[in-house]
Amino acid sequence: MKRFLILLVAQCLLLPILAQKPAIRPGALWLDRDGNPINAHGGGVLYHRGTYYWYGEHKSAHSSSAFVGITCYRSKDLIHWTNCGVVLPVDTQKASDIEKGCIMERPKVIYCPATRKFVLWFHLELKDRGYAAARAAVAVADKPTGPFSYLRSGRVNPYCYPADWTAADRQRCDTLSQTRYQQWWTAPWREAIRQGLFLKRDMAGGQMARDMTLFVDDDGRAYHIFSSEDNLTLHLAELSTDFTYHTGRYWRIAPGGQNEAPVLFKHNGRYWLITSGCTGWAPNEARMFSADNLTGPWTQWPTPCRGKEARTTFGGQGTYALPVAGRPDAFIFLADIWCPKHPSDARYVWLPITFEGGHPVIEWRDEWSPASFWK
Ligand code: GAL
Repeated sequence: MKRFLILLVAQCLLLPILAQKPAIRPGALWLDRDGNPINAHGGGVLYHRGTYYWYGEHKSAHSSSAFVGITCYRSKDLIHWTNCGVVLPVDTQKASDIEKGCIMERPKVIYCPATRKFVLWFHLELKDRGYAAARAAVAVADKPTGPFSYLRSGRVNPYCYPADWTAADRQRCDTLSQTRYQQWWTAPWREAIRQGLFLKRDMAGGQMARDMTLFVDDDGRAYHIFSSEDNLTLHLAELSTDFTYHTGRYWRIAPGGQNEAPVLFKHNGRYWLITSGCTGWAPNEARMFSADNLTGPWTQWPTPCRGKEARTTFGGQGTYALPVAGRPDAFIFLADIWCPKHPSDARYVWLPITFEGGHPVIEWRDEWSPASFWK
């Protein structure tokens, strides 16, 4: 009788789980094929030869610093993910750029056909230095599942002015005095920021590079988009043909606009950029910009988010726009609901991007299936 009762209770508990249709459930715990929570935060997804590869930050239970490294999962249906392990581990060597305890954030991987390498870029902060280093780091691999070989890190594009600046823009920037604008957030300070106050400050050491994504355009050129100038201005920087260096050509987006968490995609010949404001781990309302040319000018639009918690980007912060393979109209918006008290319990919000009058719309859904893209 006791056995029968245990079986009955177990069945009642298990049946609803087993009966659940395979689906993406934004904000819910997402388990990999081994039954463990997927640990790939601030991530991006690469599609290569019929398989999706999801790269992200491994987060531990009590710290947001990197104690493990960059992880990778693979999937064919975007719902069921197989853990491929740590593709770039932290270094146990003291004083290594990626020493255990450093900060490795927002990893993104692109494939370079010219070198047949998989190129990983991420935001790196050196151990015990908070967010002061503001470096971009790069690693390469022969296979999407790694192992990735770490190449280098640093600030970006030293001694370079934005590619679209006129001689007058440069001259104006050159005359800005750092001592004159010591008080932040005043109207003259804001104007000086737009004119390149911090850009000039960082000319010799290279520009700061924090929250980031990568984008490969239809012509095969790759770009690194990152929060620069103390998170006040985004830079869109061209990468070399092997995707592992910056060429020195870059464009500023929304100078002084305080945008983080850049998400970039192209739909019907138009570029769309979704960002967040700067409120750390706390969510805020997403912003959206569009441009006919990647190098601008960019026009700002209201948030694309709709439905429950749209005003806080569903409690999350964007990280990537995943183009669904073979479907030029299908994109998935990827975001993270951060959990600073228990970082590994941060959740994923994946939602389809639809289009209304050509403009992206991201609507909350409790659950949905990417199978609808392939119907
Ligand atoms: C967020 C950023 C995260 C992380 C965090 C640290 O704004 O998007 O990637 O850097 O700040 O507070």
